[in-house]
Amino acid sequence: MGNLHVLNHPLIQHKVSMMRMTSTSTKDFRALAEEISLLMAYEVTRDLPLKEEEIETPICRTKANFVAGRSIGVVPILRAGLGMVNGILTLVPNAKVGHIGLYRDPETHKPVEYYCKLPVDADQRTLIVVDPMLATGGSAVAAIRFLKERGCKDIKLMNLIAAPEGVRAVMAAHPDVDIYVASLDEKLNENAYIVPGLGDAGDRLFGTK
Ligand code: PRP
Ligand code: URA
Repeated sequence: MGNLHVLNHPLIQHKVSMMRMTSTSTKDFRALAEEISLLMAYEVTRDLPLKEEEIETPICRTKANFVAGRSIGVVPILRAGLGMVNGILTLVPNAKVGHIGLYRDPETHKPVEYYCKLPVDADQRTLIVVDPMLATGGSAVAAIRFLKERGCKDIKLMNLIAAPEGVRAVMAAHPDVDIYVASLDEKLNENAYIVPGLGDAGDRLFGTK
């Protein structure tokens, strides 16, 4: 069974609170999304496989651990997921990036797929699916299903803010996937927006409203 990890480090909580504020500018909102993603990536990659190699220090030869190659793929759900990619790449610069384009139909709140392009060896990587918001869970459930249909097995989900409804939906559809969130909020409102949340993450990241 996948686990829910709430990464409530004080620095993460402080930055999420700043993202929530209506008065936070697009520029700051974008920077905060990147900074929180970097901090979260530290925990999400905790169980990365290591390989031992012999190295030479100024003192002697020794064995040392390195992250085993070809390990990570980052998969943002377009478009808001893009705001989380650079933070992760700062920590894991050799990660490959795949994109899944989904938008939530404003009437039905159901996800509609419009794009999918993954690294050729995506099925051999640990994939971190990123999206700032996990609301009904429809988008994340669909994105993870697309990855599994393409042979991917080792998948983690990373969100900045989640609603309990979205967490339950992902756990029910994909019990093998661990979910990492910076905040587990209270509920969804009648428009399926997260309460208290931060509003529309895509619009706030890209200044489109
Ligand atoms: C937002 C958000 C998630 C989705 C979450 O995207 O970035 O992808 O809604 O909602 P769900 O859990 O109910 O599916 P949106 O559809 O607004 O598209 P955008 O990223 O292009 O703004
Ligand atoms: N998508 C968002 O951007 N925000 C929400 O609160 C819910 C879905």
